[in-house]
Amino acid sequence: PRAPMIAPSLLSADFSRLADEVARVADADWLHVDVMDAHFVPNLTLGLPVVEAIQAVSPIPLDCHLMIEAPERWAPGYAELGARNVTVHAEACTGDPRAVARDLRAAGALAGLAVKPGTALEDYTEVLREFDTLLVMTVEPGFGGQAFMAEVLPKVRRARELVDTGHLQLFVEVDGGINTDTIEQAAEAGADVFVAGSAVYGADDPARAIAALRTQASA
Ligand code: DX5
Ligand code: ZN
Repeated sequence: PRAPMIAPSLLSADFSRLADEVARVADADWLHVDVMDAHFVPNLTLGLPVVEAIQAVSPIPLDCHLMIEAPERWAPGYAELGARNVTVHAEACTGDPRAVARDLRAAGALAGLAVKPGTALEDYTEVLREFDTLLVMTVEPGFGGQAFMAEVLPKVRRARELVDTGHLQLFVEVDGGINTDTIEQAAEAGADVFVAGSAVYGADDPARAIAALRTQASA
C-alpha cells in the first residue's frame, strides 16, 4: 500500500461553524464529505450548494461520499465544483456504474465506488477497472459513531490482493468506526485511505488525532 492517507469526516463536525471545522483538519490528506438524501440511507445531510461552499474554504481536497439514490444524476456536479474524489454507491446505481466513472473522470475527478458491508466485491471486479477508489464501508452507511465491523476485513484483503496483483489500480478506502485501535487492523488488511469522523472531531485536538491515526496506520 501507499503511504496512509487520513480523511476526516465532516459529518461529526459542528455544522454551525463549518469553515472553522474545515480549518481544524488542514493537516489531513482529504476532507471527507458525506452526502445523504434520506432515501438511500435514513439520514439527510447536505448537497451541492453547501459542498460548493466547503470547497471554497477547504485547504485540502474534497472526498465526496454520495449516499444517495440516482447517483448518476448528481455525481458529476460534485466533480465540476472541484472535488478531488467522488464516490457513488454500487447498490444505488441503476445502470452500469462505469458510465458514472467515465463522467467523473471527464469532469476531472477521481471516480470512487462504495460497497456496503453486505455487498460482495466479486460482482464488481471488472467494473472497478474504470474506478480510482474503492470505498469499503466498515459500518452500515448513515451515521457517524458506530462500531467498526471487523467481519468486513476479508473484503479489504481481497481488494488489496486485486491491486497488488495488478488486476486493479485503486485507492482502498475504509469508512466507519476507524479510530486508533481499529485503524491498525484496517491498515494491515491493506487499506490506504482512512476516513475518521468521531475519532477526529470528537477529540480535543483534531490535528493530534490525525497525527495519531497516521502513526497507527503506519505501525
Ligand atoms: C457513515 C459515513 C461516515 C461517518 C464515519 O455513513 O459514511 O463517513 O462519518 O463516522 P465515524 O468515523 O464516526 O464512524
Ligand atoms: Zn463516509
